[in-house]
Amino acid sequence: MKTLILAGGKGTRLWPLSRELMPKQFIRMFDEYSLFQKTVQRALIFSRPDEIFVVTNDMYRFRVLDDLRELGLELPENNILLEPLGKNTLPAIFWGIKRIEETFGDSIVAVLPSDHLIEANENYIEAFRNAERLAKRYLVTFGIKPTKPHTGYGYIKPGERLDGGYTVAEFKEKPDLETAKRYVENNYLWNSGMFMFDTEVFTEEVKKHAPEVYEAFEEARDIRKAYELVPEVSVDYGVMEKTDRAAVVPLNAYWNDLGSFDAIYEVMEKDESGNAVKVGGRKGYHIGVNSRNNLVMTNRLTATVGVEDLIIIDTDDALLVAHRGEGQRVKEVYRRLKEMK
Ligand code: GDD
Ligand code: MG
Repeated sequence: MKTLILAGGKGTRLWPLSRELMPKQFIRMFDEYSLFQKTVQRALIFSRPDEIFVVTNDMYRFRVLDDLRELGLELPENNILLEPLGKNTLPAIFWGIKRIEETFGDSIVAVLPSDHLIEANENYIEAFRNAERLAKRYLVTFGIKPTKPHTGYGYIKPGERLDGGYTVAEFKEKPDLETAKRYVENNYLWNSGMFMFDTEVFTEEVKKHAPEVYEAFEEARDIRKAYELVPEVSVDYGVMEKTDRAAVVPLNAYWNDLGSFDAIYEVMEKDESGNAVKVGGRKGYHIGVNSRNNLVMTNRLTATVGVEDLIIIDTDDALLVAHRGEGQRVKEVYRRLKEMK
């Protein structure tokens, strides 16, 4: 099995922790390993180093190389694809799949986002083996049992039973809250964001459902031109919602996409008042007086008095104060900043 790691996202919902030059996949959020490094370690369960490909962009090239070197790994230069522009996940995956096919011929490819926390337990390994088998005929997704009607995910309705999974009866990307509630009640699964694709099957489906993407790469002389031509579209909207050749393998392992500070609060350890605190630097310290259920990240002496359910992210040059539950909207700050520039 080959692995394609997506590492070109900006992680704008985690501003100011995640910055354009240091997006969340490269942050050492919990321990000494970045989320990207953890993804590479998971990839190594099924793929040799020369079978691992990374799609990122010019800006993150050295972060990728440094992170790999720290793990004692060097990938062939051919395996690191540098996008001239970010056009979301479908162009990134399509280019990566093309490169893998050119290198190894028709192959089964695990596509992994690099910004998730996942426990690679026995169920994970079994799910990947099932997906590998099913990928010869289907575009395979991994389904997570939902815990709430989250609107930032894709939802999958399992259909007929297959060996190791189900056909996908319906795939809906980022539904509104009412729809998400109905889906959760009706046993839909969350799309984990990981996929298992056969290079030929995937190429056929892109050609059929996203011909503009297929043609941009066919027609352009070079990769810069292809990226100028190609529309900005995610694999979820561009292919997964449209194809009738998808399957889902249920994944029963700890999974958190760390998509917002709300998700990060959930995974962090809390003190007896429900505060999740991460301090750094020599001076980082938090004193909480009658404050509950806050997320505090700081490198300075920081005190909170009588407040609850806040997100406080203090960095050298920017401070975020938000309400827990509003984490998805942090990307609007990033958008405003872009407009100011
Ligand atoms: N190379 C490259 N280029 N990578 C990218 C780009 C790009 O333009 N855009 C995003 N990525 C990377 C991100 O770094 C991340 O690892 C992965 O692709 C997924 O992109 P997100 O932007 O984080 O997608 P999402 O969270 O909105 O939605 C996806 O993941 C959900 C689960 O976390 C979808 O697949 C949903 O259906 C799914 O539920
Ligand atoms: Mg994401």
